[in-house]
Parts: sequence; C-alpha cells; structure tokens
Amino acid sequence: MPINAVKGMPDILPVDSAAWQQIEQAFTETVSRAGYGLIRPPLLENTELFERGVGDSTDIVTKEMFTIEREHRRMTLRPEGTAGVVRAFIEHGLSRRPKPVRLAYLGPMFRYERPQAGRQRQFHQAGVELFGVDSAAADVEVIQLAMAVIRAWQIPPERCVLSVNNVGTPEDRNTFSEAIRASLASFDHKICPDCRARLIKNPIRVLDCKVDSCKSLYGELKLSEKLAEIVADGDSQPAFEQTCLLLGDLAITYTLNSGLVRGLDYYTRTVFEITATSGLGSQNAVCGGGRYNQLVAQLGGPPTPAVGFAFGLERILSLCNEFNREAFCLKPAVDIFVASDNASAALQIAEMLRNLGKFVTVALESKPIGKWLEQANKQGATTALLQGENERAAGAWIIKDLQSGHQQVYEHSGLQHYFSSQ
Ligand code: HAM
Repeated sequence: MPINAVKGMPDILPVDSAAWQQIEQAFTETVSRAGYGLIRPPLLENTELFERGVGDSTDIVTKEMFTIEREHRRMTLRPEGTAGVVRAFIEHGLSRRPKPVRLAYLGPMFRYERPQAGRQRQFHQAGVELFGVDSAAADVEVIQLAMAVIRAWQIPPERCVLSVNNVGTPEDRNTFSEAIRASLASFDHKICPDCRARLIKNPIRVLDCKVDSCKSLYGELKLSEKLAEIVADGDSQPAFEQTCLLLGDLAITYTLNSGLVRGLDYYTRTVFEITATSGLGSQNAVCGGGRYNQLVAQLGGPPTPAVGFAFGLERILSLCNEFNREAFCLKPAVDIFVASDNASAALQIAEMLRNLGKFVTVALESKPIGKWLEQANKQGATTALLQGENERAAGAWIIKDLQSGHQQVYEHSGLQHYFSSQ
C-alpha cells in the first residue's frame, strides 16, 4: 500500500512552484518597498501563545490546533502568523526600536478544519504587522498595502471587495456581551452547544457561528446591529470614522459590514476582509486583518498598538490561475541541455556553465544523439551541448541551437569562452 499525504495537506509540485515563487516575490517586493522587513518565526510555538493570543474560546483554539506534547510541554503548529510575530517582537526587544516597527512574513499555517475546496489543513499566508502607531493613517497604510499587493499579483481590482467594520473597544465588547446574554437568555434550548459555551466564555463569538439555525436566530434578534449601535456610541468610533474618511480620500472602495467580527479574539476597532467576487465558491475570503491594540500587552510586552493583515496564498493562486494563467504557468527554465557518454565530462561542463549563470540540465543516461535531442526539446532547452563517440575522441562538442536547428562543432577548451559571450 502506498503512503499518501496527510488529508488537507497537499504537495506543491514543480509545475506549480514557479507560480508560488512569483506570488511570494511580488508580495515581498511590494511590502519591502513600503518599509516592511521580513521575519521568519518558527512553525512550532508554545500552545499558551495561541490560547492567550488568538483566544481560548475561538474555533481555532478550541477545535483546530495541531498540538503535540513533549516532556510535559504543549506545543502547537502555528494556526496563524500574528501571535508568533508579536511574541518575537516582544522577545527580541523590537518594541524598543523607533516606531513604527514594520514586519512582514510568509509561510505555512496549520488548522484542523474540514478540508474542502479552498480550505486546507496546511495552507500558506503572507502578511504584515505594523507596531507602535494607533492612528487611522496606520490602519489605512496597511489596507492600502493589501490593495497594492493585489495589484502586484495582477488581479483585476473589480474581482475583489473590501469590507470594513468597527468591533469597538474592550469596554464596548463587555457591554455587547451583556446585551447578547440578555437577548439569548430565553433561547438556551434553540442555540447550538458551541454557542451555549460561547455565551459563558465570550458571547461575541456567537456572531461567528456557522450553524444555520443559530445564524437565522441571531439575524432575527439583530445581534450585529446591536453591536454596531454600541460601538457607534463608544470611544473608538471617531478614529474609525477617520479611517473611513482616509480610505475615501485614497479612492479605496469599501463596504461597511456590521456583521464582520472576524474569527480571532485580538481585534479592537478597525477590522477588514477582502473577498473575491467569484471563482472561489464559499471560501472566498482572500485576506483578513485589523487592529489589535491589546495583544502585545496581553502577551507580556509593553502596551503597543498594532494593525496587520494576512492573505491566504492558495486562494490567491486560484484567482491568479484564473486570470493570468499564461504568466503563472512557467516551467522551470532550462537554457542548455548537456549530454555525453562520459558522465564526468558532462557533469563538469554543466557546473562550469552554471557558474556562468546558465540554467543547465544533464543527460544522466547514455542514449543515441536523437533521443538526447528529444529529451532536450521536452525540457524546453534552447541549446543542446552534445558529445557522441566521435566528438569524444576528437575532444570536441556539438553545440546545437534547438530553435533554428543550426549546429557547429567546438573544441572542449573553447567552450567557456564561447558560452561566456552568449
Ligand atoms: P484569518 O482571516 O484567519 O486571519 O486568515 C487570513 C486568510 O488566510 C484568510 O482570509 C484565508 O484567505 C486564509 N485561510 C485561513 N484559513 C484557511 C484554510 N484553512 N485554508 C486555506 N486558506 C485559509 C489571520 O490569520 C490573522 N492572523 C490576520 C491578521 C494579521 N490580522 C492582523 N494581522
């Protein structure tokens, strides 16, 4: 019996990895032009980081973490990037650097969700976190940057919708929690067991429930409208309105969505999501983010406001494939295909050519020259460098241009000179 990959953790094959490289390169280029430096935290963190950071009543922490235990220590494969970046920000004293501190990251994340199209157990995120500034301008810098990344990926702007919301201050959330408890007091029998637990620990999470009967009850009770009313009267509203004004100034189109609460507990004030208008089915959120002014202090650092976002790269790649198949379906480049019955000569020449900056593959089996040429063409090489028995005896190589078919014979000693001028 062959052994297959773990469910929900697909391989990325060479045919797709050129597209991955382009996506990741366009992201890092765009964010570094805006002053964001790349950070690479480990994949495994102490479980407590996510329990305290993401929130111990969120679906991510209660149901979706990959946790292992070694010598009484619990460690978890990161389900998202923000908590680890904040941990590193505190641990390495980045909080003492001049503000703002701008960090970017990309890599795999792990959530034990039910796999389906666009939802995996290992997926990749690319994100940024901006520390140390509480202004609306910082919110908008981050949103503007997310839009710039989408442009760099050549996704038509009309295929993405930006939704924003204000989830208020921690005080607003307390008021809202009490309001939800009061609203749902007589509906205990009608809500799912998860929501009953949420009511005790963190009532705002009921807005994130995916069970249809709960969703329709909360709709009838107008729970998200209640949150909007509480927040509109709270301390965070003027800054949020400033964020919306700035978005307008920059002609960044958005919709206000009072139901947008996000699935992680750390957010305060501005939250946002970018969804694809079509092509991704129900898993159409390509980017999520927002402000999290309490998290650094909650994880033991000095009180530091922060804001950030993360894209889901598998979903982005599906969109790019749909819109830009040509640009993203690149095979690995091969300039020169080297073949000789003398493996040692072929491997040495290949190394010399690679040192000149060429992309080179080597024939690893003896074959008639015709078969080698077939192989070279299949690999997409532009030039073949061939040595049959006769050329070997003469210390020479055939250089064949695979586009024009033109070929010439060159002495072994002249090859370096020939290819350095190509
Ligand atoms: P999130 O909304 O949980 O936010 O994830 C961000 C993006 O990751 C989603 O919009 C989606 O594209 C992708 N994603 C999430 N789960 C999966 C999955 N199971 N399979 C495929 N793609 C998935 C965060 O993770 C926050 N840390 C974002 C953030 C950064 N907020 C502030 N800074």
